[in-house]
Amino acid sequence: MISIAKPIIGKDEEKAILEVIASGQLVQGPKVREFEARFAELCGVEHAVATSSGTTALHIAMLAHQIGPSDEVITSPFSFIASANCVLYVGARPVFVDIEPDFFTIDPAKMEERITKNTKAIIPVHLYGQSCDMDAIVEIAQKHNLAIIEDACQAHGAAYKGRPVGSFGTACYSLYATKNITTIEGGMIVTNDPQIAERARLIRSHGSPKTYEHVMLGYNMRLTDLLAAIGLVQLKKLNEWNSIRRANAAYLTANLSKIKGIVTPKVRDHAEHVFHQYTIRIPDRDNAAQKLKEKGVGVGIHYPTPIHKQPLYQQLGYSDVLPVAETASREVLSLPVHPSLTKDDLDSIVQAVASL
Ligand SMILES: Cc1ncc(COP(=O)(O)O)c(C=O)c1O
Repeated sequence: MISIAKPIIGKDEEKAILEVIASGQLVQGPKVREFEARFAELCGVEHAVATSSGTTALHIAMLAHQIGPSDEVITSPFSFIASANCVLYVGARPVFVDIEPDFFTIDPAKMEERITKNTKAIIPVHLYGQSCDMDAIVEIAQKHNLAIIEDACQAHGAAYKGRPVGSFGTACYSLYATKNITTIEGGMIVTNDPQIAERARLIRSHGSPKTYEHVMLGYNMRLTDLLAAIGLVQLKKLNEWNSIRRANAAYLTANLSKIKGIVTPKVRDHAEHVFHQYTIRIPDRDNAAQKLKEKGVGVGIHYPTPIHKQPLYQQLGYSDVLPVAETASREVLSLPVHPSLTKDDLDSIVQAVASL
């Protein structure tokens, strides 16, 4: 079976973990601080705050921006549920804006009609490793005085017009096992705003600037030194792995675009795509997914149900009609694109899709 994702964790990571264990500094020690510094460099920003997951990074970002009950936050309905649930965690209301059909990211042209006097922030989700249309989103945010909280959970190393994703406001990353780099579980908040960074650090660790002093309500959402040590090793490999992902994507596109009915992923002008997922549109998707699995090709569906149609959101009374996201959820199919694929694997994937 050619797997849809394959975490690469080897001898370098093993050595790094053993060093931390031998050092005795297992939590919130030098490795977390070093990992934060290197991650901030990746995004071209001043501050980074490591967290226990991408979800906790988003939750902390909401709290650090002081978003709360009666506030509204604009986000994409076509994402992993955490992109919207982080808004619910703080008692605010996610407001969904439909996506662009070519890029699967939030459509800025449909954003302003959903802004009200209660709107506080926009969460653009850089889906599949590709940046949203940030020029348009920044313009709208500035015009309406809204914070930008990027969900860059799938976009490590991506860029827009030469500027790293994650540098447009506050941004959140996931370091879950299947991401382009991983700490197994983990996350990161990055920002240029020192106050947001300071608040995020406090919220991450029980509102505690020093041992047993608590100046605000916080949580335990920390990353361990053990996991930060893995992250440091992975970070060094990110550029190479992203290049391989791009080359794999180019190979798949060159071959799959010849097949009738298949729509291959489009790359936005001036965007540096890092292909966390390689996602096509395909007729009779569910049947195709089943047949590909039978032929030994692991596939994923990101995402079969748009967030506003999830039972949780239906229970909350959401009745949005968002046709582009709803159509995408019926047509998308992710194929393996990870850096461990061989040329034979890529050819097998192409053949399997061609023979459907
Ligand atoms: C777009 C997006 N947002 C948020 C998350 C949440 O990250 P985590 O699983 O690390 O909590 C993910 C993870 O899959 C994601 O893909």
